[in-house]
Amino acid sequence: MLTQKPSYTESDLETVLVSKEEIRQRVLELGKQLSEHYEGKDVTIVSILSGALVFTADLIRSCDFATRLDCLRAESYGNATSAQNPPRITNPLKTDITGHHVLVVDDILDSGNTLKAIIAHLQGFSPASLKSCVLLDKPARHEKSFSADFCGFTIPDKFVVGYGLDFAERYRNLACIGVLKKELQDSASHV
Ligand code: IMP
Ligand code: MG
Repeated sequence: MLTQKPSYTESDLETVLVSKEEIRQRVLELGKQLSEHYEGKDVTIVSILSGALVFTADLIRSCDFATRLDCLRAESYGNATSAQNPPRITNPLKTDITGHHVLVVDDILDSGNTLKAIIAHLQGFSPASLKSCVLLDKPARHEKSFSADFCGFTIPDKFVVGYGLDFAERYRNLACIGVLKKELQDSASHV
C-alpha cells in the first residue's frame, strides 16, 4: 500500500549518493583526462540514449578536442529496475565511424550487457579506436568481464536516479544522483 504519493522531485529520494557539486567537479576532471588522452585527435562521441543525455551534454563541454556527436539507443529495460531481455540497438548511427576515433558515453555500467553489446556492434564498423566512458559503475552487478576505460564514480549495488538516470522515465532532471525511497521504488502505481 503506497502511503506517499511520488512528487517526481528530489524529495522522493531516500539518500543522495552523489551531489550536484560532486558531479560538476568530476565531469570537469573527466573532461581533462579525456582531453589529455585525445589531444590533437578528432573524436566521434556516441551517447547512449536516453540515460547518457545529461552526462554527455556536460561532458562534451569540458572536452578540449575536436568532436562529432552521434547517438544510439539500446533498450534493455522496460519500466522495471532490473534487466529483462538482452539489449537491442534500436536506432542506427548517422555518422560514418570507420577509421574514426570513437568514445561511447553511457550513464551507468550495471550488468555490463548493454555496453558490451554496443562495443561489439561498433567494433563491426572498424573504428580507428574505440573507448568507453561511464558516469557510474556498479561493480557488484557486473555479469560480464567488462570495464569502462573512463569512469566517474563507483557506487554500491543500489538502483539510482537523477542526472539522466530514470525510474520509468521519471527523475532524469534531478541535478544529483540518489536512491529512491523504498516504497516508491517497489510501487508499480506510478510506472
Ligand atoms: P546494463 O546493461 O545492466 O549494464 O544496464 C545498462 C542500462 O540500464 C543503463 O544504461 C541504464 O539505462 C540502466 N540502469 C542500470 N542500472 C540503473 C540504475 O541504477 N538506475 C537507472 N538506470 C539503470
Ligand atoms: Mg534507463
